[in-house]
Amino acid sequence: MTGTATKGIVLAGGRNLRLHPVTVSVCKQLLPVYDKPMVYYPLTTLMLGGVRDVLLVSTPRDTPRLEELLGDGSQWGMQIRYAVQNEPRGIAEAFIVGRSFIGESAVALILGDNIFFGSELSQKARAAIHGNRGATVFTYPVQDPRHFGVLQLDANGRPLAIEEKPPKPKSNLAVTGLYVYDNNVVEIAESVTPSDRGELEITDVNRVYLRQGRLDAVQFGRGMAWLDTGTPESLLQASLFVQTIEHRQGFKIACPEEVAWRMGWIGDEELAGLASSFSGRPYGSYLETLLADPSSTANGYAD
Ligand code: DAU
Repeated sequence: MTGTATKGIVLAGGRNLRLHPVTVSVCKQLLPVYDKPMVYYPLTTLMLGGVRDVLLVSTPRDTPRLEELLGDGSQWGMQIRYAVQNEPRGIAEAFIVGRSFIGESAVALILGDNIFFGSELSQKARAAIHGNRGATVFTYPVQDPRHFGVLQLDANGRPLAIEEKPPKPKSNLAVTGLYVYDNNVVEIAESVTPSDRGELEITDVNRVYLRQGRLDAVQFGRGMAWLDTGTPESLLQASLFVQTIEHRQGFKIACPEEVAWRMGWIGDEELAGLASSFSGRPYGSYLETLLADPSSTANGYAD
């Protein structure tokens, strides 16, 4: 690890063919998942992990729209920058596109279509980001792992093998779209060759760390939710999941204003200002209730 804080990349491009025609003119990461744009979910996952300096990587068409939505991050006490991936040449290309942003730092990468929810999330993400010694992947048990990267563990629970979309998976542990790397990842991403499908595979990057004995795996348990958004069905299910939890609890999932406030990156005054920019709308009322509720405290999520 270097002395600098871990930076974050949200990869929010791709062709999203499985959602056509919905994604003919807009990337899927801008589509709603219930009451918020999809990209809010991965962005707030990084925020909960303590990452304040973020690079958004998307297509030439969608990057300006994402910038219009998220701005420079200062409203949330963060810094958000933007870079374009001209063609979807693979997830690992994010480190090449983001080379100058990463500089000398360690970096966490999250795929812009990955939704995580659960009480383990903040603590496990933060611990991995602070304690990463090479690469860290996060696994989640799934019924049908053939659609994902799959991790096999040895008898001691250490990573043994990792395969991309294996027809015969050796475990039920899907590798989720959240990864933490040391600064070597840039060099490693530059060294991998494109796969048969012409992409720089993140699984190949993880295999280099595995061979070096520097790949760690954190297991998210069944008490967590890790949701897909790649098909019309899974997108609808994700929306219904968020709606169900939000209506039951009265708390929003993945509200960047709230997360920034609870992390102590913005104060009451800034939150009140953000609430007033949504004045008269349900989202603004929600932010106002946070300030009014004596049991909800700022800094509640911070270390
Ligand atoms: O979601 C977790 C899975 O993500 C992992 O289990 C797999 O190991 C990993 O390869 C990846 O699999 P996918 O098949 O979901 O990857 P996909 O090509 O769909 O890309 C994931 C997201 O990243 C998607 O929202 C589009 C975006 N993307 C993808 C590529 C290849 C880009 O922005 N640029 C790209 O070049």
